[in-house]
Amino acid sequence: MPRMTVNDRPLEFDMDPETPLLWALRDAANLTGTKYGCGNGDCGSCMVLIDGAALRSCLVTIAEAEGRFITTIEGLSRDRSHPVQQALVAEQAIQCGFCTPGIAIAAAGLLRENPAPSEAEIRAAIPNLCRCGVYPRLVRAIQRAGRVTRRVETISAAPAPGISTEDAAREVPALRAINPPADSE
Ligand code: FES
Ligand code: FES
Repeated sequence: MPRMTVNDRPLEFDMDPETPLLWALRDAANLTGTKYGCGNGDCGSCMVLIDGAALRSCLVTIAEAEGRFITTIEGLSRDRSHPVQQALVAEQAIQCGFCTPGIAIAAAGLLRENPAPSEAEIRAAIPNLCRCGVYPRLVRAIQRAGRVTRRVETISAAPAPGISTEDAAREVPALRAINPPADSE
C-alpha cells in the first residue's frame, strides 16, 4: 500500500494504488482543504506541494506519490502565518475562497524558488482558475508575500483560527451521516 509523508506525518493508504492523491487526501486523510474543481488538471484548485513543487493532486496517483513529502493547505502553516496566507488576507485577495487553497499552494511553490517574482513570472507560475476574478489582487498579494519572505516587509498576523487545522479537518469530515439512526440519539 502506498506510503508517503503528509504534512510531516507518515501515512499509508489502504486504497487502490491508482487512486488520485486528491481523493486519498480528502476522503481518507480527511484533509478537505484541498479542493476538487475539475478533476482534469485544468483549474488548479487541487494543488499540493509534492517534494516542494506545486502539482495538481487530481493528476497524481497515490502510487506515484509513494515516498514523497506532501504538503496540503492544512500543513502550509499551523496558524495562518505563512507569508502567502498573510498577504492573501492583507490584500483581500479572497472572494468565495474556493480556489484559494490551490492558489496559496502554487504561490508558496513559486516563492520557494523565486522570492521576488515579476508580474509576468507570477502569471506564468499561477495557472489557477478563479471564477471570482481575483487575479489583479493575486499579483499584488504574491509580490507582497515575496517581500515578507525576503524580510523587507512585515504584515500583522491574521487572527489565529479558533481551532487547529487538524482538528478542523476532523470536525468537518469529508463524509458524514446526515440522518443518524433513531436509536443512536
Ligand atoms: S481538480 Fe485538479 S486541476 Fe482541477
Ligand atoms: S475566490 Fe472564488 S473562485 Fe477564486
